[in-house]
Amino acid sequence: MQQIIYTHTPATEIDALIARLKPNKVFLLTDETTHRLCKPRLDESPVLRQATSIVIGATDEHKTLDSLAHVWKTLGDGGATRHSLLICLGGGMITDLGGFAAATFKRGIAFVNVPTTLLAMVDAAVGGKTGINFNGLKNEIGAFREAEAVVIDTHFLRTLDVQNLRSGYAEMLKHALLSNAAMWSDHLATDLDSPDYDRLQRLVEQSVSVKQSIVAQDPTEKGLRKALNLAHTTAHALESLALLEGRTLLHGYAVAWGIVGELYLSCRQLGFPTERMRQTVQFVHETYGRFHFTCDHYEQLFAFMTHDKKNVDANINFTLLADVGDIRLDQHTTKSALFEMFDFMREGM
Ligand code: GLY
Repeated sequence: MQQIIYTHTPATEIDALIARLKPNKVFLLTDETTHRLCKPRLDESPVLRQATSIVIGATDEHKTLDSLAHVWKTLGDGGATRHSLLICLGGGMITDLGGFAAATFKRGIAFVNVPTTLLAMVDAAVGGKTGINFNGLKNEIGAFREAEAVVIDTHFLRTLDVQNLRSGYAEMLKHALLSNAAMWSDHLATDLDSPDYDRLQRLVEQSVSVKQSIVAQDPTEKGLRKALNLAHTTAHALESLALLEGRTLLHGYAVAWGIVGELYLSCRQLGFPTERMRQTVQFVHETYGRFHFTCDHYEQLFAFMTHDKKNVDANINFTLLADVGDIRLDQHTTKSALFEMFDFMREGM
């Protein structure tokens, strides 16, 4: 299983990793925001102070071929060889793009992820999916390649804004739904407006171990890993609609609303317990509000779902649940059930 290190002294842990891996050169990839806000936490390490810095623009709009080319060029100009190490310090954009740069430079160099957002800690930085956006499509180009280690310091969360905290938490709620009733009810008892960081650290560790255990059984998403797509067929359609209309939408908010829709389908098609759906939907509405759309958007959302890259044939592919922890892969539905699901997301409960 991928090595995950929980620490409040990341520089010391990275020094120890460097001593073990013995790279001939070390490079540190950040974005403009994490360079300013998070890198000082690593400056205690003399090795990292001397590492060659590679800084790219922050946010998903920089998850491009141009940024990737800049990373490759800086590695090449800086004398990186196959025995060099790339440290990726940032959110999911940095760990995805940095991981892909490392996977492809000289056919692959080692990299270590140091996630600084909740979403990256519990999802993006763990499990070996790397990539960039291309041709208007998210994560269109990429590779499976696991980091040598993921160093998680939840102190980074203390400066994360509440919207990004909520965004990451939606993936944690998804992991809890995939796992068991005790973990699920524990997750519904969290107040993200005044977070208890020790409790959050405990939930992060649980969440990462759910993801790790699924990825260990199916690293390249031939079967079980599709469980992690719960809520994402709907979430990706909402994100595409938001993009089309120039609306800002954090990934985790789309996942939270995707959970509402796909639990409705789970209830309707697989008998997921109504009371558990009600409690989950209440938590989502209280924490995330609702995504605003009208029945005029239904055909467009349906069209986005029809073109989802997770589909294998003409059917829209869903991961659904017969109960908390009772996962059903490769589920299909009808257009009219989807329109009922959209009604439910707008007006239900
Ligand atoms: N984010 C889902 C996965 O890593 O498979």
